[in-house]
Amino acid sequence: MSFQPDLLKRKAALVTGGGTGICRGLSLALAAHGCDVAITSRRAEHLEPTRRELEALGVRALAVAGDVRDPAAVDAAVARTVDAFGRLDILVNGAAGNFLCRAEDLSPNAFGAVVDIDLKGTFHMCRAALPHLKKQGGVVLNISATLHYFGTAAQLHVSAAKAGVDALTRVLAVEWGEYGIRVNGIAPGPIADTEGVRRLLVGPAKDRVVEMTPLRRLGAIDDVSKAALYLCSDLASFVSGVTLVVDGGLWLTSSRMAEAWDAAVAAAKNQA
Ligand code: HXC
Repeated sequence: MSFQPDLLKRKAALVTGGGTGICRGLSLALAAHGCDVAITSRRAEHLEPTRRELEALGVRALAVAGDVRDPAAVDAAVARTVDAFGRLDILVNGAAGNFLCRAEDLSPNAFGAVVDIDLKGTFHMCRAALPHLKKQGGVVLNISATLHYFGTAAQLHVSAAKAGVDALTRVLAVEWGEYGIRVNGIAPGPIADTEGVRRLLVGPAKDRVVEMTPLRRLGAIDDVSKAALYLCSDLASFVSGVTLVVDGGLWLTSSRMAEAWDAAVAAAKNQA
């Protein structure tokens, strides 16, 4: 890690979806910088191995099984975190659901399931954490996406949910600034070794995405963790209401316009 090891000493964090993938890596990065970390997931079996890894880094670690769609479970997770650590400084909203499905095939329940997890779950967590974050000031970090920056086919449900998450980031940054709470987001692009890439980049899509990415690779979990450490620490003390894109520049080349532009540039080169 490239930051001072005591960057987050005496801080306490709660990370939803912290047992696996991007948010497991992010949780370990917080812990490696001195932060006590609680992680939640719907599935208890996702939690205990990561909890042990967190503890091995020398911090206090807590695993709480629960669904962010259930406000009572969310309240309980926040209460257990504050009981265990005596405070809450950092909330990371990472719990998410996704699958490829075109809009005309989406059932109301399928659309609702993703909006309930990604958007309403983020709201439930923020609402429950507020009284504790208010005590000494704090940080909310919402894990978003770039899919809604353009019309990503088969991603209506997630695009709608993440657009809502970005709106929530901006509004809460305005409303909670007076409490000393910074609210930011990270929009990761495709990150290797995650459930998102396994579900979304099927067939030749992975190679095509790497070709389209200006930095010519998939992201690493560590790329997101480093951005999170910045936003969750005092290094970002005057940064609030932003969603930091961590995608190697991919979203800038992802629209059909960009593909048409590439073709035009190639044609112009041939003519010259
Ligand atoms: C169409 C589907 C579907 C699919 C589920 N559904 N999978 N519809 N295509 N592939 C429908 C179901 O039929 C059902 O509708 C409704 O969605 C709810 O499904 P359940 O399985 O009952 O719900 P639940 O068990 O709550 O599961 C939620 C889930 C699931 C979102 C559907 O995929 C999940 O738990 N995912 C968590 C892990 C995950 O997705 N991780 C990846 C995050 S990636 P009906 O009408 O039949 O009742 C990510 C990154 C995005 O977020 C950005 C990347 C760049």
